[in-house]
Amino acid sequence: LNNGLATTPQMGWNSWNFFACDINEKVIKETADALVATGLAKLGYDYVNIDDCWAELVRDFKGQLVPNKKTFPSGIKALADYVHSKGLKLGIYSDAGAFTCQHQPGSIFHESDDAKLFASWGLDYLKYDNCFNLGIPPKERYPPMRDALNATGRSIFYSLCEWGVDDPALWAGTVGNSWRTTDDINDSWASMTTIADLNDKWAAYAGPGGWNDPDMLEVGNGGMTYKEYRAHFSIWALMKAPLLIGCDVRNITSETLEILSNEEVIAVNQDRLGVQGRKVYAYGPDNSSQVWAGPLSGQRLAVVLWNRGSKASSITVKWDVLGLESSISVSVRDLWKKEYVSENSRASFSARVDAHSSEMYIFTPSKTYSSS
Ligand code: GLA
Repeated sequence: LNNGLATTPQMGWNSWNFFACDINEKVIKETADALVATGLAKLGYDYVNIDDCWAELVRDFKGQLVPNKKTFPSGIKALADYVHSKGLKLGIYSDAGAFTCQHQPGSIFHESDDAKLFASWGLDYLKYDNCFNLGIPPKERYPPMRDALNATGRSIFYSLCEWGVDDPALWAGTVGNSWRTTDDINDSWASMTTIADLNDKWAAYAGPGGWNDPDMLEVGNGGMTYKEYRAHFSIWALMKAPLLIGCDVRNITSETLEILSNEEVIAVNQDRLGVQGRKVYAYGPDNSSQVWAGPLSGQRLAVVLWNRGSKASSITVKWDVLGLESSISVSVRDLWKKEYVSENSRASFSARVDAHSSEMYIFTPSKTYSSS
């Protein structure tokens, strides 16, 4: 969507994956504090997004949405002021239907009122869900909120959460700043890998202004190992996915913080070229040895060697799958070891990759390559 936002994928935090409906203004404020205290805010995680369950079950007599009086007693405007005072942005959630997924009022047929309200509260981001959608296709339900947000004159990031219904990559580029390509993620290796493959299919449609959204990060929520979470984060970064933290940042472990704070991996995600990396090669039993890659600015390439199998193995990337001539010399920087592991590789590069794990690199060819 050409609204000046999302020149790179959005970064921040969202309440849903960890807290679900158990949210309140204290949690949101403490999370904003924690994003600053951990240094995550400085690394670019600047959207603090409230998901479902913030509203009263009925609109007021004027037809306006009302923040839950028990859990958000100070109101959303006060919360936005607080979050802004920390140098961060506040996001909210509604639904392109009669109700949200947790049965709070939806915004369909109230787009203009709700957009005005969100703007008057000083909100910076809207995640717009797909429950109770009256059987109307998303293509028809999502543009009215785009227009309503635009009419407020406030810059509000518009995140479509239509669960991949009706192949959004094909139509959402002029509707939203990001669109979900799949059903909800859950905190498991099976879910994460399945979603990565589904999202991969739409790589060609992502770019500055509008990104494929394979859903929010589960890193730190406990259902995967350290290596699995590292693979999750690496591949989301490579796919130019939104990097929306989904754990409890107030109680983050040093392992989780280490993953989410890897500046070189973040830089791949935020690279100004904005081209989604994809699965370029897979081989071995069940195709479990995989090469994912994509171009970066400065004639560089981001490369992930992903072992989807249950045994450690050596994975090889040959230059031809990257669109490089085999004679070209490449320097290889390992983004997790944070060091150069080869100054002068030719024709191919191999590394041992643990089971359910990945390694991530930046390849810098010594001269201009022809990209495929
Ligand atoms: C849907 C969305 C999730 C979350 C929940 C909230 O399932 O896809 O991301 O927002 O609703 O109810």
